[in-house]
Amino acid sequence: MTDFASTIYRWYTQNARKLPWRETREPYLIWISEVILQQTRVDQGMAYYHHFAKNYPTVEKLASATEEQILKSWQGLGYYSRARNLHATAQIIVKEYKGKFPATYSGLLQLKGIGPYTAAAISSFAYREKKAVVDGNVSRVISRYFGIEEPIDSTTGKKLIQAIADEHIPEKRPDLFNQSIMEFGALQCTPKNPNCRDCPLQTGCFAFRHKKVDLLPIKDKKTKVSSLFLHYFFVSDSTKYYIRKRGSDSIWKNMYELPCTANEKESKTGKIHIDKNWKIPASATFRFDVAAYRHQLSHRTIYAQFSEIRLSRKFKPPQGWIGVALNEMPDVAIPRLIERFLEEHFSSHGV
Ligand code: ADE
Ligand code: SF4
Repeated sequence: MTDFASTIYRWYTQNARKLPWRETREPYLIWISEVILQQTRVDQGMAYYHHFAKNYPTVEKLASATEEQILKSWQGLGYYSRARNLHATAQIIVKEYKGKFPATYSGLLQLKGIGPYTAAAISSFAYREKKAVVDGNVSRVISRYFGIEEPIDSTTGKKLIQAIADEHIPEKRPDLFNQSIMEFGALQCTPKNPNCRDCPLQTGCFAFRHKKVDLLPIKDKKTKVSSLFLHYFFVSDSTKYYIRKRGSDSIWKNMYELPCTANEKESKTGKIHIDKNWKIPASATFRFDVAAYRHQLSHRTIYAQFSEIRLSRKFKPPQGWIGVALNEMPDVAIPRLIERFLEEHFSSHGV
């Protein structure tokens, strides 16, 4: 083992968290954990991992659930394409692979829906294949320790990082090297305020010696964040309110939400636009701007306003609108933002 590998490994034996997906070698459960953890912190992802392990204990169980059920289970985690993809890939594994995961990195990579990162993680943790797993944590540790000043999101930078990881991963228990370096990035060499003072890699660390800890790793691409202004309507009569399925166009595809109008720009006049096609009767009463939230997604800042439309007469809802009993949460998947509004709305109405 190289010094780098043995130091990280020693650190791991003393500092590792006990995490449930580290206690299994079942490729299916490891896959679930890795997909959850790709864009989610361990403390948030834990409950979801337990939920999936309990409710969908096998790939067959996941494949035979409906997409709506999976989205509902995923509710609150965000990046919902992960859930749709998980479901579609489970169906491929059942249909074309008789429910058995391919046992090698290259076999896993053949599966549409499993990318290089996930294939490496499954082959390493389930089968102990000697395959270096490189994620954000690993890139940061390597960039700092070895002084990689190429952007970690550039082709050259990625190749350099991968080559260093490949060079240091040992023959014996390569899976533990992968877990160690990930854990080291998550707990010790963190994005902000890494614990350099009490770090076993300090003497050999390029970033520490050159006072570049805050400058590394370098990232090329700034994620462009655009704004989206949504105006939601809580349309209700004396017994129910309405939700509808979101189109297949973009964020929250196939999830349910309150009826809304969307704009890329903020309304200059402050005038609230109500879709004519909804045919809201003139007898309805309105309460505008009962709530407003800002919601941050990776590429979007969402400014959501909520208004109420109270119907007094008979109303023929537009196609696709579904009535839900007042003060009940929909039992389909809804974005966290809508869930939050409904919770606060219902509780402020004394229920
Ligand atoms: N993040 C991604 N994979 C992980 C793992 N196996 N353990 C902890 N955090 C992770
Ligand atoms: Fe990371 Fe600091 Fe340790 Fe270097 S000294 S590996 S920057 S925690």
